[in-house]
Amino acid sequence: MTRAIIIDTDPGQDDAVAILLALAANDALDVRGIVAVAGNVPLSLTQANARRLVDSAGRADVPVYAGCARPMVQPLRTAEYVHGQSGINGYDWPDPVAPLQDLHGVDFIIESLLAADDKEITLCALGPLTNIAMALVKVPECARGIREIVMMGGGFFTGGNTTPAAEFNILVDPHAAHVVFESGLPLTLMPLDVTHQALVTKERIAPFAAMNTRCGDACAGMFGFFNRFDSEKYGAEGAPLHDPCVIAYLLEPSLFSGKNIPVKIDIAPGLTLGMTVMDWWGVTDDAANCMVMNKIDADGYFALLTKMIGRLP
Ligand code: BDR
Ligand code: CA
Repeated sequence: MTRAIIIDTDPGQDDAVAILLALAANDALDVRGIVAVAGNVPLSLTQANARRLVDSAGRADVPVYAGCARPMVQPLRTAEYVHGQSGINGYDWPDPVAPLQDLHGVDFIIESLLAADDKEITLCALGPLTNIAMALVKVPECARGIREIVMMGGGFFTGGNTTPAAEFNILVDPHAAHVVFESGLPLTLMPLDVTHQALVTKERIAPFAAMNTRCGDACAGMFGFFNRFDSEKYGAEGAPLHDPCVIAYLLEPSLFSGKNIPVKIDIAPGLTLGMTVMDWWGVTDDAANCMVMNKIDADGYFALLTKMIGRLP
């Protein structure tokens, strides 16, 4: 039986690879829709990029929605300095053909959850948590339809990647993250602690280029683009491949391990705004609210990605 998911995303090269991975896995995942959010680049680009990915994968059956154009409280901050002006630089993308749905992305999430069985749908969050928090705030009873929220965001032992304390997705909309982490829903987090073990080395890019397919070329091109910035930033042999960890976890959970612990989001203005404060060592009496991963079998992860992207046109 397939697992029903909604992907909430701000493509972004790593979001793009995550979306392709999910679309390739149509025997395991039933992608009910893709909802764009403002993040790496503005919403006008993230929604267009999501449509380009559906086109590339030949999956016109998957509807794409536009969600929120800015965070709940703060002004939007974007990351063109990492992802390029389009968000998915590195490949010569054609204009999107797949339509943008009329329904607002937040309403799509709400309507899908209300129409679902109890705990039926897994929300895959690859960007700032604005749309998901807005859905929970607008119609709290829609939470009934959520099986789990699997997110890429935060970091603890690695520190932050956008400020010393905060990771990009959480920092862009810390108030939305606060709503999600206080929701009491089953949460699974792929923080920087995991993604910084999954580096896109030259050896790992080569099989994508060798596929000689549209999606293989797109992945190889995007990897090459964002490797330039991150390899220099971290002094590593390749960039961390963040967002596909969320989808890989659904397909092969045994690639990851971690701990169920209390996590709180710092929403106070100041040096640590957007920090994911994790009680890793159990030094408080707070209740655990999130399964936080801290280890990945990186070779297994790239083997899965290579196998699955190889299925696409
Ligand atoms: C996260 O921020 C974005 O730049 C990436 O797409 C990923 O979701 C990593 O901090
Ligand atoms: Ca992202």
